[in-house]
Amino acid sequence: MAENENKKKTSRFDEKLAEYYDELKYLYMEIYDDETAFKYFLKMLRKAYKERKQSLRAVDARRESNPFMHHSNKMMGMMLYTENFAGDLKGVKDRLGYFKECGVKYVHLMPLLDTSEDSARSDGGYAVSDFKKVRPDLGTMKDLEKLTAACHQRGIRVCLDFVMNHTSDEHAWAKAARAGDPEAMSRYFFYDDRTIPDQYDSTMPQVFPETAPGNFTYLPDINKHVMTTFYPFQWDLNYGNPMVFNDMTENLLYLANRGIDIVRLDAVPYIWKELGTSCRNLPKVHTLVRMMNIACRVVCPSVLLLGEVVMEPSKVLPYFGTEEKPECDMLYNVTTMATIWHTMATRDVRLLKHQLHQIENVPSNCIFQNYLRCHDDIGWGLDYGFLGQFGSKEAPHKKYLNDWFTGKWQGSPSRGELYNDSEWLQDARLCGTTASLCGIEAALYEKNEEALKVAIDADVMLHACMLTLKGIPVFYSGDELGMLNDYGYHDDPGRYADSRNIHRGKMDWDKAQERFDESTPTGRLFSQLKKLIMIRKYNDVFHSDAHVYPFETGDNRVLGIAREYKGKKMFGLFNFSPDHVWAEADGSGYQLQPYGFRWLMNIYID
Ligand code: GLC
Repeated sequence: MAENENKKKTSRFDEKLAEYYDELKYLYMEIYDDETAFKYFLKMLRKAYKERKQSLRAVDARRESNPFMHHSNKMMGMMLYTENFAGDLKGVKDRLGYFKECGVKYVHLMPLLDTSEDSARSDGGYAVSDFKKVRPDLGTMKDLEKLTAACHQRGIRVCLDFVMNHTSDEHAWAKAARAGDPEAMSRYFFYDDRTIPDQYDSTMPQVFPETAPGNFTYLPDINKHVMTTFYPFQWDLNYGNPMVFNDMTENLLYLANRGIDIVRLDAVPYIWKELGTSCRNLPKVHTLVRMMNIACRVVCPSVLLLGEVVMEPSKVLPYFGTEEKPECDMLYNVTTMATIWHTMATRDVRLLKHQLHQIENVPSNCIFQNYLRCHDDIGWGLDYGFLGQFGSKEAPHKKYLNDWFTGKWQGSPSRGELYNDSEWLQDARLCGTTASLCGIEAALYEKNEEALKVAIDADVMLHACMLTLKGIPVFYSGDELGMLNDYGYHDDPGRYADSRNIHRGKMDWDKAQERFDESTPTGRLFSQLKKLIMIRKYNDVFHSDAHVYPFETGDNRVLGIAREYKGKKMFGLFNFSPDHVWAEADGSGYQLQPYGFRWLMNIYID
């Protein structure tokens, strides 16, 4: 019987593999031209399939019969740091009720795999030293499996980062490479002198020009230079080596087999390097992602890939692949996010409207993840070509936005901090929580009740706008409660150099109790956001397959977004200014309060 079962399982695997075999082999050979490595890859897939638990196979089967379940308007996410949210994985499991309360159906757990104990050498967990081990202070792999199982029981999906561009220099491969093992060395980019690094540097931009300048790190103990696009302790993996691709895909499937439903492909545009190029978004990156997508379809079909491509739309959209050959299932709507903040500071919605038009027609299998804030900075990657027609130039415009959001500009209630403020690049980015950027922090500090009302209204309006966009809205944990900036990191030697820590504060559960008391700012914000979340959840005009488009409101301070789905229509009006304005939707005029908004629902299309 057991043997029969096994045979049945294997034949299902073979069926799936057969479906993709020709394409997979073609792509693999195109990059590696190595039959032995390809055989190893297939064997590894089969093993991962055999190891997949029955309960996860059941999830696979459910989702295979409804592959676009996650397009539902019931889908809403929250991203959080395990340690900040609840101490450890068991703590998160004990707090699952909070997700239900907030309408959260998808939880993104920030990096939790083993990393350096020294926080100055872990990049918030994005320098992984063991892909199969949980950070001991957060728990064990067993705890993670228990948490994913408990989430599945409640219909919640779990997302985890897969940091694939690099490993920590404390990873076993890096340690072996440092000790001179040639096989391990071939997994990274090592050079004896600066000749090739200089050639790379001449065309390769920098990610952290201030906090980690340069793309290579000199290792004096072995007298070699190693490629480190991000921090010096994050060694770039060489995907030109088939064993890197094989083993990293194996790591991905290992995590999928622990119950991870959504795999966030961290810094994916960077994984292929070629001299004479920017080493970003190269065609082979797409081949590798397509192969990872196929690996998931064959082994764990319910698993979705979320690509982290923090770039302009023309670079982001290709990561969806095509309907026949999809790559990522989900992508961050990053330009829309940055443009929303630009709109807050300029009170002019024209760029945002243009941006929404640009992404109006993504292929139907693809979905954006919408967000206001995440664990990273806000980079001002805006469409400066478009802004140019109004006389805006890139460097002064970025300076204006940064001045506005750091509260330097007169009249700005924002409290943010700069990130990677490089004088020569004039490309500083920005950090801060939604509440602090909206003015809640300043108003509370100044005990200014009137300013507080405006700031809370602005915060709610931004969330309403985010919930109206096409795709899956994702809250950054703490934003639902108006969590303020955490300046404590200034005094932490391991964290002070990275201003992203300003919005990575700990959840204060005592304060969170105030969410039930509408006389408190927390309660005022939370109750309004919750109402919006519930309206979205129970109205399928918010379904992600809806046709969503911006419309003209007659006032450049007011954004209009329309949604159409199955004969129903709704209009959203969002006032990005502190003024009382009059705006139009569907032939009627509406008055909007400062930073007010309207959702005009239940309109039927004849
Ligand atoms: C991604 C992460 C960021 C991290 C970087 C390097 O961009 O979002 O937090 O620093 O990758 O891994």
